[in-house]
Amino acid sequence: MSDRPDAQRMETIVSLCKRRGFIFQSSEIYGGLNGLWDYGPLGVELKRNLKNYWWRVIVHERDDVVGMDGSILMNRAAWKASGHEDTFTDPMVDCRSCKARLRSDQLIDKGKGKQCPVCGGKDLTEPRSFNLMFKTYVGATEDEASLTYLRPDTAQAIFVQFKSILEISRKKLPFGIAQIGKAFRNEINPRNFTFRSREFEQMELEYFCRPEQGMKLLEYWKEERLRFYEKIGIPRDKLHVKTVSDEERAFYSKGTYDIEYDFPFGRQELEGVAYRTDYDLRQHQAASGKSLEYFDEDTKQKFIPHVVEPSAGVDRTVLALICEAYAEDEAPDEKGKMETRIVLRFHPRIAPIKCAVFPLLKNKDPLVAKAKEIVDLLRPHMFVFYDESGAIGRRYRRQDEIGTPFGITVDFETLGEKDAKLRDTVTLRERDSMKQERVGIKDLASILISRIA
Ligand code: GAP
Repeated sequence: MSDRPDAQRMETIVSLCKRRGFIFQSSEIYGGLNGLWDYGPLGVELKRNLKNYWWRVIVHERDDVVGMDGSILMNRAAWKASGHEDTFTDPMVDCRSCKARLRSDQLIDKGKGKQCPVCGGKDLTEPRSFNLMFKTYVGATEDEASLTYLRPDTAQAIFVQFKSILEISRKKLPFGIAQIGKAFRNEINPRNFTFRSREFEQMELEYFCRPEQGMKLLEYWKEERLRFYEKIGIPRDKLHVKTVSDEERAFYSKGTYDIEYDFPFGRQELEGVAYRTDYDLRQHQAASGKSLEYFDEDTKQKFIPHVVEPSAGVDRTVLALICEAYAEDEAPDEKGKMETRIVLRFHPRIAPIKCAVFPLLKNKDPLVAKAKEIVDLLRPHMFVFYDESGAIGRRYRRQDEIGTPFGITVDFETLGEKDAKLRDTVTLRERDSMKQERVGIKDLASILISRIA
């Protein structure tokens, strides 16, 4: 697929997200609030599945990473030391004609001077720095002494707790600390649905190492992260690695990659993988006066570890998953006539609902009772949805549209009414191929667990 914007596809996806309860505008009944979003019943499941899988791969399946969950508000001194208070800014320009407030990199430049992308006007102010951190006050007085910020990333809490976690976990270099949590940025122009929001979540790993390991680990983590996206259903050919140039890179970084995805609105960053050297720990050590050094038992040397940081956006990845999953194909209706089917082809691992259970008819008690037994059998292992209303074909379509990978139908064969050999078997339907197989109820849990793992 090309990186050409496809506005229509994006519009269809945004409308599906709202219609089926994935994502809504925040405070919608009050007219909304720009750059803020709420996740509905299906969105929250998708998001949780993504975060849980990241946690599983990054923390549980490794011996060299531990987790933490830091507070959103931190001592203001941390934001001074990290450089955010002085330099976490975007250059902002105002259009005097239409009053639009713009990031300078969004101005149009067709070779005849910069223009406003909203009205085409050329009467623009000089760029000035705008700090993206939201201010707040801790305690009853609103003054300089009580000022702090909503965190703009989760990383700083990790750096600040580095020494405590090193001591209690007794890890040796290289080792990492992982965190998932909210971050806030007062973006000048939130846009592209949830892609650039003012409140979002990050999944960040700070992987501490010796200086000589930094560049190699940067490559290692880039590859690991690409593999991760493939494992959640984003094909490799839709992912692109951009090497961030010397001019664009933070001055302290010795190498940064952006992992990009072909969104319908163009190729955009999903995650940054950066070798940040020892900058962060050095800054916090200098500002706090507390040692953040590592003592090497073998060489008896003390030094400040370097760090490689894969930093991913939860919301951006959820959006990529939805964009990637959205498909339209053809399927027969109740009468066998082909009709357009909307289907979200989520990888079963991250699909919001794993399996739907249907009694063929809702007014036949034995069918309903059997279907409910199956729900109870599967619920300890996965999120199951029970649906008895409407024609079976309609029920399949509803699940296709929200990406449920498996459907189980309890019919008269299940009750052994037609053939005793089929007693306690059901049809298991697969969403993408729409193929159905006859499966014993006793085998359902193990079959499904292996397919959603
Ligand atoms: N600690 C490093 C850091 O925060 P970043 O490149 O500014 O680096 C990392 O952010 C990731 O966080 C991005 O790749 C993106 O996925 C996500 N992110 C950043 N700003 C965002 C925003 N306004 N809305 C949604 N996600 C955002």
